[in-house]
Amino acid sequence: MTVDESSKQIQQACSYLKNNQVVAIPTETVYGLAADATSDLGVAAIFALKNRPHFNPLIIHVSSIDQAEQIAVFSEKALAVAKTFWPGPLTLVLQRRLESSISLLASAGLETIAIRVPAHPIAQKLLKAYGRPLAAPSANRSTHISSTCVDDVLESFGSNAPFVINGGACRVGIESTILDLSEDSPVLLRPGGISLEDLESVIGKVKKNQESTCVKAPGMMKRHYAPLRPLRMNAVTPEATEAFLGFGPECENAHLNLSPSGCLTEAAAHLFRMMRDLDCDPFSGIAVAPIPLYGLGLAINDRLTRASCLLEIEQ
Ligand code: TXA
Ligand code: MG
Repeated sequence: MTVDESSKQIQQACSYLKNNQVVAIPTETVYGLAADATSDLGVAAIFALKNRPHFNPLIIHVSSIDQAEQIAVFSEKALAVAKTFWPGPLTLVLQRRLESSISLLASAGLETIAIRVPAHPIAQKLLKAYGRPLAAPSANRSTHISSTCVDDVLESFGSNAPFVINGGACRVGIESTILDLSEDSPVLLRPGGISLEDLESVIGKVKKNQESTCVKAPGMMKRHYAPLRPLRMNAVTPEATEAFLGFGPECENAHLNLSPSGCLTEAAAHLFRMMRDLDCDPFSGIAVAPIPLYGLGLAINDRLTRASCLLEIEQ
């Protein structure tokens, strides 16, 4: 797309947002379904289109740390990670400022608020052009696979698809890491595009959510990111009717390979795209090769575990 076309799409998106309408936007992680975060009507339109439970709060996207500081209270640790990883695939959960103009519906009435500064140049341009924070969950129907390109968004919403700004394929391909810094000790609520190791190199020990006493990210439902067909993890040999999603040089018989060279960053970028591509006839299910549990492998295994969960959840 030319610079001109992209500026036109940004202008068009701003007029939708001003009218409390939803637009789909590219970010470096996955596409988001954005609305004006200060507008209850705009935020309500996101919940309706996504068929998302209202108790599940949204991430607020801003263009800079300065703008984020108007919405939430930053501790020293929060400022340190923000300065290191923003703009980028990290979401911080912080105490919400009482005077903040963010819709209470967006943060589901919680005292905390999730914020991030996305790195995608189009998301940055849009945030600057619009001037107000944008609430944006991933652009997929609740519990289904996130979208990493325009076609995924169009396919997810069919005839209800919103206006989509085209930003190409998402570079990271997996959602942001969510770090809770609203209390003294940092807690990892969702592994994602920034690894636990990288976070710990800046702020020291980070507890994983399972180790803390209560589930803090209401959206971390057991079944999520799910293809229509059953998905099986840590598969060494696929069944005859299964699609085989490989990882690394040993998986020569795989239908698709997340990263033939065994690179976890490349695997994360391909994960959702390949899950969608193998969720088709004549396959009866998807068998996924073992993925190591370090670096971005933590986030990949998290998404695969949720995709493989057979439990039906209440929406
Ligand atoms: O990469 C991303 O984070 C993408 C792009 C579009 O920015 N967004 C995304 O949003 O993944 P969503 O809505 O699919 O996931 C947001 C998660 C949910 O699990 C939600 O429960 C959690 O963030 N969350 C939001 N506000 C929270 C809060 N105050 N405390 C704890 N968790 C929160
Ligand atoms: Mg999501």
